[in-house]
Amino acid sequence: MTHATATSERNLHGLAATGLLAYCRPGFEGECAQELARDASGFVRAERGSGFVELVRSEGAVATEDSSWREFIFARQLLQVLGRADAMARNDRLASLLPIVERNGQRWCDAWVEAPDSDEGRELAALCRALNAALVTALKRKRLLDPASPLRLHVCLTAPDAAIVGCADVATSAPWPGGIPRLRFPRGAPSRSTLKLEEAFLVLLDDEERARWLKPGMTAVDLGAAPGGWTWQLAHRSIRTIAIDNGPMDAALMESGVVEHRRVDGFRYRPPRAVDWLVCDMVEQPRRIAELIARWLADGLCRRAIFNLKLPMKKRWDEVQLCLSIVRDALGGAIDIRAKQLYHDREEITVFAARRSGESRNPF
Ligand SMILES: C[S@@+](CC[C@H](N)C(=O)[O-])C[C@H]1O[C@@H](n2cnc3c(N)ncnc32)[C@H](O)[C@@H]1O
Repeated sequence: MTHATATSERNLHGLAATGLLAYCRPGFEGECAQELARDASGFVRAERGSGFVELVRSEGAVATEDSSWREFIFARQLLQVLGRADAMARNDRLASLLPIVERNGQRWCDAWVEAPDSDEGRELAALCRALNAALVTALKRKRLLDPASPLRLHVCLTAPDAAIVGCADVATSAPWPGGIPRLRFPRGAPSRSTLKLEEAFLVLLDDEERARWLKPGMTAVDLGAAPGGWTWQLAHRSIRTIAIDNGPMDAALMESGVVEHRRVDGFRYRPPRAVDWLVCDMVEQPRRIAELIARWLADGLCRRAIFNLKLPMKKRWDEVQLCLSIVRDALGGAIDIRAKQLYHDREEITVFAARRSGESRNPF
């Protein structure tokens, strides 16, 4: 819990926001709260298993700048809080919500009614859909929807009669309701893990980076590749991949002609020449993985890496900080490093790291 005072009463687009709301994976509220607490303008409120965390600003305090959801590891979405509606009438929730929505005189490019990714939240899914339709209709009638507005309205239902009303700049927030990219399992992919790497490409890279860095003919090494879900994502993009694992690889994937399977230890393997990508999903102590990735990057064996850190231990936040600093320090700080607990991650996070070059900008 942190307290501080600040200077002005208005922040993002002149809105009088009373705090921040972050959605996270249920069970990771503690880690998400530790991240939000770095914004020293208020105190953090979190309940285990709820799937969300709030930063409540002290009277008259605001954060000094607008934060992007991308900067947070454990937040799937980051919203500015405009107000709360408690004890909403079940036959007219809009009567409680609209005064909060209208208070700032803003227009919105869209409006999403969401619920946290918790057991209670999932039970509110049908209500969210119905209320979303009613809210959009009301906003249209009041001419409060404007496709050119940079702001999206969010209503987070925390109970059938309670909601937190917030908003986000589309440029600095996750573009999916609930912060959850719903990806379809690709036909032919050998394991569900494939969705982790697909989501990592989507969340940790921007459009331009995906176009520039995931090109046919590029090369990759996949450490801990079997049965081949991550390799499939690379092979599917015609990236020539060396798959390292003692376990068997999916037979159909091996027929693609772009995958070479080596049954060797991922901690000992070195590629004959530098590759464009190192990806790694080995189940191992996170700091061992961080040290391995740091060595590959520092020795110039790969240009960029995406790797998973499994976090079964108690002090998960401290372990993440330690692992990220191992990778950062190996390159003397000249590194782009972006980490996220993806929707398809469980007790783990996924990290992108690349040696920083002149062409590279870091929007994260
Ligand atoms: C979570 S699974 C990987 C799943 C894979 N990413 C996919 O999408 O199908 C972890 C894999 O790491 C492999 N592994 C663990 N330690 C390893 C090591 N030292 N060297 C190579 N592979 C290892 C295991 O055999 C296992 O297949």
